[in-house]
Amino acid sequence: MENFDFYAPTKMLFGKGKATCLPEEMRPCGNRVLMVYGGGSIKKNGIYDTVCGILKENGFQFWELGGVTPNPKIETVRAGIAMAREHQADMILAVGGGSTVDCGKAIAAGYFYGGDAWDVVKDPSLITDALPIFTVLTMAATGSEMNPTAVITNQAVHEKQGVHSSHLYPRASVLDPTYLYTLPAVQTAAGVADIMSHIFEGYFKKTEDAYVQDKFSEGILKTCIKWGPVALTEPENYSARANIMWAASMALNGLCGCGKEGKWSCHAIQHQLGAYYDITHGVGLAVITPAWMRYILSESTVGKFVDYAINVWGFPRQPDEFALANMGIDATEQFFVDCGLPATLSELGIDDSLFEVMAKAAVPYAQLDTQAYVPLHEQDVVNIYRACL
Ligand code: NZQ
Ligand code: ZN
Repeated sequence: MENFDFYAPTKMLFGKGKATCLPEEMRPCGNRVLMVYGGGSIKKNGIYDTVCGILKENGFQFWELGGVTPNPKIETVRAGIAMAREHQADMILAVGGGSTVDCGKAIAAGYFYGGDAWDVVKDPSLITDALPIFTVLTMAATGSEMNPTAVITNQAVHEKQGVHSSHLYPRASVLDPTYLYTLPAVQTAAGVADIMSHIFEGYFKKTEDAYVQDKFSEGILKTCIKWGPVALTEPENYSARANIMWAASMALNGLCGCGKEGKWSCHAIQHQLGAYYDITHGVGLAVITPAWMRYILSESTVGKFVDYAINVWGFPRQPDEFALANMGIDATEQFFVDCGLPATLSELGIDDSLFEVMAKAAVPYAQLDTQAYVPLHEQDVVNIYRACL
């Protein structure tokens, strides 16, 4: 196992009605709040009224930045920074999914920086301070509610960029599983695919003896496989929503990925799709992941895929390791399809016209040619995109 630091300072307020605990956490940071939210789902399902009511009852002054889009844009971040400065906000409260949380984080980071907000997204060393960040999560997927990452898109330059900084850990996050009841089925499924991808990115790594991380990982994957379909058929099943919600936070708070060498693969390949086509993050991952798995399956990786097939999918051991590995990969693909997710880029209206351009950007984005589990060069990434058509 490699050396690592594990740091997860966010206070997690988990369970039904836990939003009422927020004021106690927020009060030490001041009284003036910039509340950030998305395209309006929170106004339809009542979460907006609940959160505003709690803020008012507890004497907070707040201003609202609504309209954060999926794959949040740098323009919204700039507008949020201007608002936060105008009203001298003491803190950010993001109410929504990963996009809203990420936008809130980027506003918090840009607040103290004199130049353009895109600079801090590109260069985290410029983040020397950030406004305190609080979140009320309405979507289980990214883990942003408990991690130091924000992913922002700059369409003008066709870049979707992740930024990591210790200043970006939320102080506290509310995870009320009932807030997930109104999620559209495709978002529930995309969230499950994203959680599973976060696990895959750490599970399929060169380091072989991070046994405890792999057991956490297999447990979270099995949780997604068990409870994802239940959440889809019974959107108001509390146990399903609760298990998926907690799985999402655990999948990307450093617990499963620590102590392992190398960088992620599928997210780098998917982020280029996001930059050019603005597709749902988890949907893109569901398409890319099985193709990537098949592409990297070889003598040197088959053992790990056998572990995956046996420990996650429960297939019995058999002498033909490649057949077993492929059973695990096929099961993964079928699971995503059964969740209602597309299996091809064509279904998303994406053709091969930008494959070379996206591959060229994907390789340096995550040093895929040197740091990936299986090194991928531009042509490899093109081949993976082609396998998704
Ligand atoms: O905008 P509203 O109206 O709120 O609607 C949203 C949005 O359309 C809707 N939604 C969310 N909660 C809902 C709801 N609809 C009904 N009821 C609810 N309770 O769902 C749609 C998707 O929301 P979004 O926030 O975009 O989803 P997600 O949480 O999957 O976030 C995706 C973004 O996070 C980035 C992705 O790249 C993408 O930009 N990621 C962030 C990471 C991080 N910060 O660590 C890591 C991830 O790998 C990922 O890259
Ligand atoms: Zn992701």
